[in-house]
Amino acid sequence: MNETFLNHLTYLSSTDKELLKKSQDESPFNALLFDQEKISQEEILATFPFLKNHPFINNAFIYQKEDYHLGNHFLFELGAYYLLEPCALMANYLLNPNEDDLLLDCCAAPGGKMIHASFMMHNKGMIVANEISKSRVNILASQVEKYGRKNIIVTNHDLLSFPSIYHNTFSKVLLDAPCSGSAMFRKNQKMEEDWSLEKVKRCSSLQKELILKAYDLLVPGGILLYSTCSFSQEEDEEVIAYLLNKRDAKLIEIPLNPMFMEGTLKGTIHLFPYLFPGEGHFFSLIRKPNNELRHELKRNKPLDQFPYLPLKEDIYSYQNHYYLRSYPYELSSLKIISNGLFLGDYDPKLGFIYSHFLGRYKNMLPYSISLSKEETLSYLEGNPIKLDKENGYYVLSYKNIPFGITKVSQGIGKNHYPKGLRKRYKNN
Ligand SMILES: C[S@@+](CC[C@H](N)C(=O)[O-])C[C@H]1O[C@@H](n2cnc3c(N)ncnc32)[C@H](O)[C@@H]1O
Repeated sequence: MNETFLNHLTYLSSTDKELLKKSQDESPFNALLFDQEKISQEEILATFPFLKNHPFINNAFIYQKEDYHLGNHFLFELGAYYLLEPCALMANYLLNPNEDDLLLDCCAAPGGKMIHASFMMHNKGMIVANEISKSRVNILASQVEKYGRKNIIVTNHDLLSFPSIYHNTFSKVLLDAPCSGSAMFRKNQKMEEDWSLEKVKRCSSLQKELILKAYDLLVPGGILLYSTCSFSQEEDEEVIAYLLNKRDAKLIEIPLNPMFMEGTLKGTIHLFPYLFPGEGHFFSLIRKPNNELRHELKRNKPLDQFPYLPLKEDIYSYQNHYYLRSYPYELSSLKIISNGLFLGDYDPKLGFIYSHFLGRYKNMLPYSISLSKEETLSYLEGNPIKLDKENGYYVLSYKNIPFGITKVSQGIGKNHYPKGLRKRYKNN
């Protein structure tokens, strides 16, 4: 581990530095976060018996071996679980979003914290998942589809120019800031090669701008969580101190635990790989006092009726496209990439053409055709399926997981699995 890097962590004792250095020789930790509405803990453990409980999150497990490729399993393709770094799960553990929240995830890609928040909110409330990068924002949209989320709207703004009409709006704001990434060294050697004090300073000045904007977007009385995967105080405590100095923000102290190291600013915490089974993170919680006017979002009305689905849920249309949404808000000032769960298009000649993504929506399970494992694997590979059903569209499921749609004609279900996602799953 780079000595300049270690030396600039002046808040660490020499023992801590030694432990941090030593931890770099072990293989990195990863976490599996499962969707409790689609799969049980028992089934996850029966499939992957080597998993260990995450110390804080009851629907997550951790594992350390680099030779487990859980991303190649068909249950991952079906959206039964998400894979991410274990410390990342602590962001929503601390922020604790619920079904009534309007959550802004300021820098959301690739989307681990967004998906975790959406699971915790039971697909209700609203998450605005924002990301500056055009390519990375598309990853967010694909996660929304894969995991069948109807409470996420994906937007593509530089946070610094996020429309100011949304100041004082969001009940919770998550700023997982771009950073120099020292907690990624073990996973990604390039991060260590690219690390420099200059980079830390550049990140710090951007983070200071970002945190002021994130705070301004928070509703009075709302809560902001700031996090980085950097161990540098310049990007952590210094950024929080800057906010406290510039705004009337109040720091909420995070209760200590032997797995956390308190930051040099009381109430903030660092996670280190030698204390917590993960790569490392910094967290701080902030409250905005309730002494300003809140901005209320305008509302849209869902369709009065929608004859193409059995669900009694809020559906919105845009031109001939139809979406399922848990939030009724009019958000036309935003650069929207995806705005709810896409259900399909209406074609005057062909009628309603159902989207594959409707098949990802949990509440479609009671209306689905349950397939065996062999049938599911064959369908994922792109094969048609024999179904003794009347002609028409059907949702397909495996156990409790709806995963796609088919159109039956003369007893054969045509394969509607997106071509780019078709794959043969071996040894699953
Ligand atoms: C640490 S990553 C976020 C990880 C994410 N929260 C997750 O859980 O997967 C930081 C992200 O911020 C984005 N970003 C950088 N500058 C930004 C800005 N000014 N506005 C919005 N997003 C930005 C980066 O492209 C990157 O995807």
